[in-house]
Parts: sequence; C-alpha cells; structure tokens
Amino acid sequence: MSRFWSQTAKSIKPYVPGEQPKDRKYIKLNTNENPYPPSPKVLDAIRRAADETLRLYPDPSADALRDAVASSFGIERENVFIGNGSDELLAFCFPAFFEPAGLPILFADVTYSFYPVYAQLFHIPCRLIPLDEEFRLPVEGYLQENGGILIANPNAPTGMGVPLETIERILRHNENSVVVLDEAYVDFGGESSVGLISRFPNLLVIRTLSKSCSLAGLRVGFALGGKELIEGIIRIKDSINSYTIDRLAQAGAREAIGDAAYFEETKSKIVRTRGRVAQALVNFGFRVLPSQANFLFISHPQQPARVLFQKLREQGILVRFFDKPRIDRFLRVSIGTDGEMDLFLEVVARICEKPAE
Ligand SMILES: Cc1ncc(COP(=O)(O)O)c(C=O)c1O
Repeated sequence: MSRFWSQTAKSIKPYVPGEQPKDRKYIKLNTNENPYPPSPKVLDAIRRAADETLRLYPDPSADALRDAVASSFGIERENVFIGNGSDELLAFCFPAFFEPAGLPILFADVTYSFYPVYAQLFHIPCRLIPLDEEFRLPVEGYLQENGGILIANPNAPTGMGVPLETIERILRHNENSVVVLDEAYVDFGGESSVGLISRFPNLLVIRTLSKSCSLAGLRVGFALGGKELIEGIIRIKDSINSYTIDRLAQAGAREAIGDAAYFEETKSKIVRTRGRVAQALVNFGFRVLPSQANFLFISHPQQPARVLFQKLREQGILVRFFDKPRIDRFLRVSIGTDGEMDLFLEVVARICEKPAE
C-alpha cells in the first residue's frame, strides 16, 4: 500500500490471470487458450505488415477490420467496434453504459471474475444473481429493475450455455438497460445472439479472436450492436487511447476473420476432444458440467480440487482452481490437443487410483 495511490488503487482487488510460469515446460490447460496454431494466413499477413509503415500510427478505428467483421456477420461497419481483446471492450462498457449513482447492474454469482473488478474500478453498483444448484441461469433474476446486465454465454468457468429464448426474454424485459452478452466461447457450441441485434437496440454482443481463432496473443476482440451502443463505446475509447489496435493486429485479425475454413477445422477438433475427455472423466467418477466451451468444469467426490490441482501441477499439467465459494470443489480444464489430453487423463487416473489424502 502506498501513500501515493488513489483510494481506488488502494481498494481495488485486481483480476488475477491464470499463471504463465516459465520455470519448466507445462501442458497449459489453465487459460482456455487454443492448443492449435493460428491460421498460416494470419502469420503471413502479420509478417507482411511488419515493415517500415510501423513508424506510422495505425487506423484508430480499424475500419478495414470492422468491414471484414461486418461482412462476415452480414451487418454494417457502424454495428462493429474493435477492441484490444474482449477484456478491454468489457472495460469500456462500464463507463459507456452503466451509472455509478444508478441502479445496480446484474450478473451471475459464478461467472467471469473480471466483471466485479470492472464494477469496483468504475464504481458501478452491482447485484449478483445466484445461478441455481445445477449452475443454470435463473431468468427471473434478470426481470427485476436494473442499471444494466452482463451475461457470459456460454458462462465461464462453468462452460454452460444459456438458451436463446431465455436471452430474448431478458432482452424484451429490459428495453431500457443495456444487455451485454459476452460470447467469448460461443463458437464451441453455444447459441449466439448476434441475430437479435437488429431487433434489440439494447443488445451488445462481445466476441474475441483469443479462443476459437487461436489468437490470444494478438489481443483482438469485437463488439456487435446497434449504432447507438457502438458510438457510446467509441466515445469512451477515444477518451482513453485512440490507437488500441496496432497495425500487426489489424492485419492479422483481418485474415483470421476471412479464414473460416481453418478455424472450423480446429474448432471441431476441440469439440471432439472435449466429448472424449468428458466421457473419460465421468468414467473416473468425476462430475462434469455440460460444456459448450473449450474447457470442462469438473469435480471429484473424493479428491479435493485444491489437492488435485497441486498434484497435476507437480506432474507438469496446469489447470485452474478457483478458491471461491460454490466452486472450490471444481477444476477448470481447458481442452488441449489429443496428445495433451491423453497425458492429462493418464495422470488423473493415477491420482484417482490412490485414496484421497
Ligand atoms: C468469459 C470471458 N470473457 C472475456 C475473456 C477475455 O478474452 P480476451 O480479452 O482475450 O478477448 C475471457 C478470457 O478468458 C473470458 O473467459
């Protein structure tokens, strides 16, 4: 604690990202990265863009990339905003759409742990809506008065999706608040709400290239919504940093958007591996929540999650353990390559053979 810090800097509890240790080689199943490399076309485009033009600032609104995203969704450039990863987009949404002195915004008690951090940073009151016993989203909770709504669909860290009709019901009941849907994982089997944008001016859908396009290192996400909402985010972006997307990222991301075939292939591999690993874990006695994402949320009746996490780590396998109420019996395991997951299953089988300590 420093006397130079503001009250906000003193009191904020920052988000803790999954570890990226450098002490040895790990099988990384802890940050929901894609185990497959990005499309070769993306890498070529980045190499081509790495030239003398780097002395110039990039296009502040990334219009060529906006156009590529817009045409892939059959919408207009004005309906698209590009962000430096979806985390940045989510952060911009708070000052753009939510009021410090207004009604509380609503989000789940078990969801992406960056949401409460942004709420604290931007002084936005929030109300947590508990998921039910099975970790499903209770629609009634979102039909009360509010200052905005934030839903990850599919949810993290559970991987569970919310049906489109539930989302529609929430949108219809909340015409006066902005509903932000974080679809970071939707490509792995969720139901997207992008098709609802033209009917609901209060809907903002947030996507990322980090997961399904294997580009977590490039830092590109995008928001899709009505023009009014997009203009609101632009106002905030241009009040913080005009050039959030660098030249290399703009060039690489444009290729990624255009290379749907490559990304379909890696996505289906991940979905296939997910099904196989889920079944194997059920056979070992795990509870495995139904996942529409590139990870599994699992719990063993005898093996405490913290111990399992530690034992896996000792064997060079990183998964995510959240020491939080309701989910401290679970581990979140990202889906890696088939080879990585075979090793993971082998180690888990060995651990579970022995009685819990
Ligand atoms: C639900 C959810 N939203 C957003 C993000 C952020 O993704 P990025 O900033 O890489 O686009 C993550 C990352 O793990 C996530 O789990």
